[in-house]
Amino acid sequence: METSVKNLSIEKVKTSRLSEIDFDNLSFGSVFADHMLICEYVDGAWQSPKIVPYQPLSLEPSAKVFHYGQAIFEGMKAYKDSEGGVWLFRPQENQKRLNISAKRLAMPELPEEVFMDGLRTLLQLDEKWIPQAAGSSLYVRPFMFASGTGFHASPADSYTFIIACAPSGAYFSGKVSVLIEEKYSRAANGGVGYAKAGGNYAGQFYPTQLAVDKGYQQVIWTDDVSHEYIEEAGAMNVFVRIGDTLITSPVSDRILDGVTRKSILTLAEDLGIPTEVRKISVHELVEAAKEGSLKELFGAGTAAVISPIASFGYKGKDYELPELEDSYAHKLKKMITDIQYNRAEDKFGWRYSV
Ligand code: COI
Repeated sequence: METSVKNLSIEKVKTSRLSEIDFDNLSFGSVFADHMLICEYVDGAWQSPKIVPYQPLSLEPSAKVFHYGQAIFEGMKAYKDSEGGVWLFRPQENQKRLNISAKRLAMPELPEEVFMDGLRTLLQLDEKWIPQAAGSSLYVRPFMFASGTGFHASPADSYTFIIACAPSGAYFSGKVSVLIEEKYSRAANGGVGYAKAGGNYAGQFYPTQLAVDKGYQQVIWTDDVSHEYIEEAGAMNVFVRIGDTLITSPVSDRILDGVTRKSILTLAEDLGIPTEVRKISVHELVEAAKEGSLKELFGAGTAAVISPIASFGYKGKDYELPELEDSYAHKLKKMITDIQYNRAEDKFGWRYSV
């Protein structure tokens, strides 16, 4: 196996677990491929990366990740086409964003070749774990955390980077109803909302649970100051279609620069769909729903790709979205997944051969 990362060692599993997996009934991210990539940062330098069997980790109770939450991650997918070709979608974007997150969390940046070449070698080795069934893929989870120890509230002196993979089916199934959040926030100006920090997601669980208790599946996050503008949908970016115009909130300190988000914007513009990147007020959303110009509301992210929202709740009232034959969500999801699975021309050069 060819790789240009210096000293990448490979220890293969003695017996693959592949035959234990029911590939016809995959949920999302709950079974894990045979191998993982691991690379340690110690004494101020990244050490040689290793591919080893997927296995538990050994960490001291004083590892700073447990106390101060220095932990970041990325989410990507590997796709297998009908000929058995293996593809990633814009992986360099994830590589760059990992380092943007690392910088914000005072963690060391990871060399690009460890991420890219390590990832390619890992996927070549676990190629049989990439499902081929429609809508399935190998979810790839690169992540980094503070493995260095100490109770002093300061950055750790050592870190671990891992890539683990999970053959996965759809992230959501069925209709999604959301609650527009009026009290809690996912991010604030000057904070870490734009980073893919684990804590951003932990902070969502409690408000989301409150929404689930009220019968919704997800929360639409609003700005932290006025709660008057919608910002993200659950763990995804949010899109609104009013009339024929597709609108999404601008990325900021508080909003993640999603790869799916920016790909959707490019594809929509290429199709001639009018797009706007601007603040979207809850008032505008509610008024558009009342007068019938609110056509679509959907979340966009790597895991779910595009997740149409069937209804939203706000101040005790529920608003239904129409069911459209020719929805943007459907059209754009087809376009993006056709590129990802090598079923369509890749006009923008997004597909990456593994
Ligand atoms: C993704 O869409 O990849 C995400 O980051 C969602 C993740 C929390 C499962």
